[in-house]
Amino acid sequence: MLNTKIAQLLNEQVNYEFYSAYLYLSYSNYYIDAGLEGFANWYTIQAQEERAHAILFLEYLQHNGEKVIFEDIEKPTDILENYLDPLKKSLEHERLVTSKINNIYHEAAAVKDYRTTQFLDWFIKEQGEEEASVDALIKKYELFGTDSKGLYLLDTELAARTYVEPSLTI
Ligand code: FEO
Repeated sequence: MLNTKIAQLLNEQVNYEFYSAYLYLSYSNYYIDAGLEGFANWYTIQAQEERAHAILFLEYLQHNGEKVIFEDIEKPTDILENYLDPLKKSLEHERLVTSKINNIYHEAAAVKDYRTTQFLDWFIKEQGEEEASVDALIKKYELFGTDSKGLYLLDTELAARTYVEPSLTI
């Protein structure tokens, strides 16, 4: 069993990771509508990663004898006005996720729940990588994406992204 507050925060994170997957699928859908299948692929894979994160939090709770509560998943409501919007919103979103994970880490350390802090180490590293990858994509888009040839090449590059299972197992 885990500390009640830690279990509750981890359960909220299950929901938030599923929301992240839903949000990124909505971005993928936006790019599909725009005819940018490479950007859409990048976000579909991003959504797969988020689903995998949700499952890891869920399994961690189960592994520790906690009941998982499935809550409603919020509806993505972003208004996307240009191709850069989803990228910028993703960076903001990932920063928010980082702050949520940091908060769980902080609370777990406060009650000496080092099993949970150790579990979260992987996510802290992962968040660093996620923020860096979307930040790099924003920079690439700003450099090349506003020119139609550059946009085509960037879309082709993003079409090559493939899904890799998380290296963490429970
Ligand atoms: Fe699972 Fe991108 O946070």
